[in-house]
Amino acid sequence: MPTKALWGDGRLCYGGDWNPEQWPPGVWREDVALMRAAGVNLVTVGVFAWSRLEPEPGRYTLDWLDRVLDLLHSAGIRAALATPTASPPPWFSLRHPDALPVTADGVRLHHGSRDTYCAAAPAYRDAARNIAEVLADRYAHHPALALWHVHNEYGTTCHCPHAEAAFRRWLTTRYGDLDALNDAWVTSFWSQHYSDWAQVGTPRATQYLANPGQLLDFRRFWSDTLLSAYTEQRDLLRAANPAVPVTTNYVLGDWVPVDHARWAREVDLVAIDHYPSAADAGAEEQTAFAADLARGWARHGAGQQVPWLLTESAPNQIHTAGRMHTKEPGRMTRHSLAHVARGSAGVMFFQWRAPAGGAERFHSAVVSHAGAGTRVFREAAGLGTALGRLAGTAPGRVQAAVAIAYDAASGWALRHPGMPRDALDHPGEAAAVHRALWHAGFTADVVPPGAPLDGCRLLVLPALYLASDATVDWVRRHVHGGGHLLVTWLSGVADEHARVRLGGYPGAYRDLLGVRVEEFHPLADDEHVPLTGGGTGRIWSETVHPAGAETVSAYAGGVPDGRPAITRNRIGDTYAWYVSTRPEDDTYRRLLTEAARLAGVTPTCPGVPEGVEAVRRHDGLLYLLNHTDHPQRVPVAGFELLSGATVDGELTVAPGGVAVVREEIP
Ligand code: GAL
Repeated sequence: MPTKALWGDGRLCYGGDWNPEQWPPGVWREDVALMRAAGVNLVTVGVFAWSRLEPEPGRYTLDWLDRVLDLLHSAGIRAALATPTASPPPWFSLRHPDALPVTADGVRLHHGSRDTYCAAAPAYRDAARNIAEVLADRYAHHPALALWHVHNEYGTTCHCPHAEAAFRRWLTTRYGDLDALNDAWVTSFWSQHYSDWAQVGTPRATQYLANPGQLLDFRRFWSDTLLSAYTEQRDLLRAANPAVPVTTNYVLGDWVPVDHARWAREVDLVAIDHYPSAADAGAEEQTAFAADLARGWARHGAGQQVPWLLTESAPNQIHTAGRMHTKEPGRMTRHSLAHVARGSAGVMFFQWRAPAGGAERFHSAVVSHAGAGTRVFREAAGLGTALGRLAGTAPGRVQAAVAIAYDAASGWALRHPGMPRDALDHPGEAAAVHRALWHAGFTADVVPPGAPLDGCRLLVLPALYLASDATVDWVRRHVHGGGHLLVTWLSGVADEHARVRLGGYPGAYRDLLGVRVEEFHPLADDEHVPLTGGGTGRIWSETVHPAGAETVSAYAGGVPDGRPAITRNRIGDTYAWYVSTRPEDDTYRRLLTEAARLAGVTPTCPGVPEGVEAVRRHDGLLYLLNHTDHPQRVPVAGFELLSGATVDGELTVAPGGVAVVREEIP
């Protein structure tokens, strides 16, 4: 794996997106001096600079980038050089109107923002390869180059004729013939049978509900199409200098038609951009979940471990719920180190310097409109110092004995409007399980179906709606190998084409769970159903018939009143749990704690007070993140790396602070 260029010197990466093309050279020099003062060692350059690199077709103006890279090199700062293909210049649109994207309702979009291209349009692909090749020829051996950053956040779709033709080709490869496609999409329903490939198109705006199989395959098609746009750039960059790692930054969210687990096999490091949507304590939970997702992709998606890196995060405000929310002092540092705790190879911000204009002029930046004499800059410089003290602690693997399965396609399939309830959300359900475990003090891996489960004592399937035969086999092997299992509602209900597995839900796992579900009874948003034993369920309920499983908790109200809500089936020495509703957070926490206990899993750091996040790594480091506003005492002995102090059995972590302890092995 060609990652030496990135962390051969043992330093964690620190920096962010830098856009010198928006500023005169005097500002570049000031920026580089400030970067050095803040401990920055890696910056992403050129992400949206296409029109400054190729102002007219075939005319290249690279001299400014030469100077920028030389300047960085002379300052000892490495470059993640981007290919600018996420923002084709205006000349491209005028020259290739057929390469502009078309929405599902037939509107052709124009330049004026970013991402105005169809990734299936030959003219776009040619132009993208071309500018990538120009950069590769010129910079592949530049001493500042540490990483190629291809494109930015692949995630667009299109319904133009190029996209349609490519979709048909993709379907031909997937299904071979129309009979197989008709069967997979169940086109006998509503007279949708296709008798000629020319009839098959992208899921455009239509009269009523679209075909679920078609929608799902369209997402998969885009994931593969965007991936091929990435890999063709990667291949030419790699060919120019195989020692330089290549990646692209992932945008998270289930609107993205990208199966990041599959993409992880094609990158030299998994790169995620993370902007929590919550401005309060929820941001902590989201941060931990995103980091664990990235680690799962990096560890398992690749078939072999690759590193992962937080490539974008906000240095200050996050924009959510219609306004900017300021991160109070310390939060940025704590959240950044939370990513590092969970294995990130460093911390990168969007963005280094706030632009004077442009659509994101009010996005937070390390150097804000007020300059560098700010609280935010000082905190960023403090983080640079902290990361410097962690040099030599290689991006580490994390100790976890619980795994949560996460599958992009299940998330896409659940979004179909013809489901029994709106707002069904596999990523949200995975996050709810993760949150409950996080609050209970357990560390979890988040893994794609099929990932090796070595070390996993408890596997959780959270609304993992789709179950291919391979996924079912994976789950079976885990249980028959002695692993515990906890399956929640809507898991295993459909096959990989989103066709229902018949005979009672959840068709794929009925026998393992020892239950048969006869009916769904979705709940309203404000509805709660009491459970015996003191818990509460939300969102969903079902009529569950035990078929071998014992009832742990029953519905005490609602349509399935008196019937099992939570069951467990004993298989040898293990338990296979079934949870037919969404337990309220406290209920979930208790349930998962019990399932973990029976699986022989203990909390990460027993004795850690509520509100302190503990992450224990295989390299012997214990990260402690105090999310409360008062000092917290933690029983631990060793050496604290950030302060350089020896810890004799008890450590006080400052309000909102972080400690990193190399534990003493007794
Ligand atoms: C990211 C994107 C950046 C910037 C940022 C704003 O998703 O990659 O270019 O737009 O969001 O938060």
